[in-house]
Amino acid sequence: MTGPGTICVTGGAGYIGSHACLALAAQKRKAVVVDNLSTGSRDAVRWAPLAKLDLRQTEALTETLIRHGVDTVLHFAASAYVGESVSNPQKYYDNNVGGMLSLLTACAAAGVKTFVLSSSCATYGVPERVPITEATAQRPINPYGTTKLICEQMLKDIAGQTAMSYAILRYFNVAGADGSGTLRERHDPETHLIPLTLFAAAGQGPALRVFGGDYDTPDGSCIRDYVHVSDLVQGHLLALEHLRARGGNLTLNLGSGRGTSNLEIVGMVERILNRPVPVQIAPRRAGDPPALVADISRAKDVLGFVPRRSGLATIITDAARSFALEAAHAH
Ligand SMILES: NC(=O)c1ccc[n+]([C@@H]2O[C@H](COP(=O)([O-])OP(=O)(O)OC[C@H]3O[C@@H](n4cnc5c(N)ncnc54)[C@H](O)[C@@H]3O)[C@@H](O)[C@H]2O)c1
Repeated sequence: MTGPGTICVTGGAGYIGSHACLALAAQKRKAVVVDNLSTGSRDAVRWAPLAKLDLRQTEALTETLIRHGVDTVLHFAASAYVGESVSNPQKYYDNNVGGMLSLLTACAAAGVKTFVLSSSCATYGVPERVPITEATAQRPINPYGTTKLICEQMLKDIAGQTAMSYAILRYFNVAGADGSGTLRERHDPETHLIPLTLFAAAGQGPALRVFGGDYDTPDGSCIRDYVHVSDLVQGHLLALEHLRARGGNLTLNLGSGRGTSNLEIVGMVERILNRPVPVQIAPRRAGDPPALVADISRAKDVLGFVPRRSGLATIITDAARSFALEAAHAH
């Protein structure tokens, strides 16, 4: 299925953006990646040309959107480390909020019709109740979450004035890798639990630190909602189809709808790799809620979103395969 215009994937050299490019290529959609390679890697950009640009270069960005005939933007580019956002909030306001304002200015100038924003469950902060619906109050507890909430509001305000349709997609914990092992999760420094657990199991990293063993959860460790990156990307394609067919706007949670504890992940990695994972139970981190789980019934109802690959065994098998393939290539 080919859309009328080109899709600009900001952050297409990063973890989720590169998976989105792979899925768009499978649908024979024309795309262009805009990325400054600050955390992404050049070799993850394989399915679309790369415009190596910073989002805040508004003029060059506008010119790129016009030259490629872009009518749709999937906006993944952002700084996305919660801890760093606490120690260096200026960087987050500059890159995430400044980048979004520049991008929306360029989109208005280039006549972009459809916009999809990567938002986050971090905008909900510590929810009063789980599962979390889209109506749950948004009270972020760190600058990263605040910048995402500001981006949501900016999109609502500016899209209203520019006749742009938008989808705000609030991701929970994105994990796994494309099943063919073509791409992998890659963050530097790595802070995500599944890669860290795989590194610890392989003896490539220190013992896994599990923050808090005394939460009021069945095994005492925190519960999060892990969604397979391929399911998440599918949610974007469904949102695009929906906006193209019906216009309007969407605000949706994208998760698996299931909670998984840190120690369940450890157990699953041990089973799948048949190796022990050295674990150190560390003190709780400030601001870490005991459980964050998405209610995904709206995405199911509106888009027909079904997270088929988001079972824990599939996520970990795909992630482990992608790391093993990369290690094999490195030798
Ligand atoms: N990974 C998750 O679990 C998760 C959860 C919720 C939301 N998100 C959001 O999803 C998006 C993608 O996350 P990811 O895990 O793929 O991160 P990532 O760091 O792998 O990718 C981000 C990409 O954006 C690029 N980038 C950053 N700032 C830029 C700028 N100013 N101009 C041009 N390019 C820039 C980076 O070089 C990188 O390639 C982010 O917006 C993040 O906040 C991720």
